[in-house]
Amino acid sequence: MSAVTVMQNNNKLGPEEFGEIRRLVYESIGVNLTEPKKALVVSRLSRRLKELRLDTFAQYLRYLKSDPQEIGTFFNCLTTNVTSFFREAHHFEYLQNTFLPALESNFSPKTGGRKIRAWSAGCSTGEEPYTLAMVLEDYFRGKKGWGVDILASDINTETLEKARRGIYRRQEVKGISYDYLRKHFKLGAGPNQGLFKVKENLQKMITFCQLNLASLENYPVGDPFDFIFCRNVFIYFDKPTRARVLRRFHQHLLPGGLLFLGHSESIDLTDEESGQWRSVKHTVYEKLP
Ligand SMILES: C[S@@+](CC[C@H](N)C(=O)[O-])C[C@H]1O[C@@H](n2cnc3c(N)ncnc32)[C@H](O)[C@@H]1O
Repeated sequence: MSAVTVMQNNNKLGPEEFGEIRRLVYESIGVNLTEPKKALVVSRLSRRLKELRLDTFAQYLRYLKSDPQEIGTFFNCLTTNVTSFFREAHHFEYLQNTFLPALESNFSPKTGGRKIRAWSAGCSTGEEPYTLAMVLEDYFRGKKGWGVDILASDINTETLEKARRGIYRRQEVKGISYDYLRKHFKLGAGPNQGLFKVKENLQKMITFCQLNLASLENYPVGDPFDFIFCRNVFIYFDKPTRARVLRRFHQHLLPGGLLFLGHSESIDLTDEESGQWRSVKHTVYEKLP
């Protein structure tokens, strides 16, 4: 989409329509589209308008209301999905060097099996949960009694589809060490030349599902988690939404469980609405009872 087209469409998105889009997105998925995001909204939705051969945002809003299928595509257009393998690598180092050894020292294989439960909430195209799977597989390989179970969720159905496929371009796997790449990916041949596919044993450790963190319903996530990664998602939420989500993460963590946030995100430890947390490291928080 050219800059000229975006500028023309920017003028076509009136304050009322932008207000309606903002309200719909905020009330449904908690994403707070502030005024400076208007150009981004125009650029992303203009592509959709073009696909549907619609001329104006008013027409698009009417279409959105008339077709219940469209709402998912609308959210897919408006979420930001930037991610990468081993992003914010210090979190994975903390797991390997501090958290997992502590868990291990409190466990005796004689008392039965122990399953590590992790949640990547806002997993985008899958790089984050696959990184977790590689790190956990690597750590527990050959150790008796341990299992790994990772839940990976997002609101965006397109990114989830890519995550489930587990196929990445060379450029996308550049953050993975040669060792891990060799161990956990298959190199494509023929028409898939240059593509890397996650091996099945790693894929089997992860369950992908669509989950709206801003939903008022209970999260259908099962047993409590040892740790939750929710990185670079809170930046799109306002304070009340963050507090609500934090309180629920608190409920879904085991005692002593950890929450990992993105590099520019933090918990206001004085805010009782968010549950009781202790900061153990920059952007890493432990649940307090
Ligand atoms: C920038 S990506 C972060 C990906 C990954 N966690 C990371 O740090 O690399 C933010 C993700 O949050 C998802 N998201 C936004 N609002 C959401 C909501 N209400 N519920 C679930 N996921 C949401 C987006 O679809 C997007 O994939």
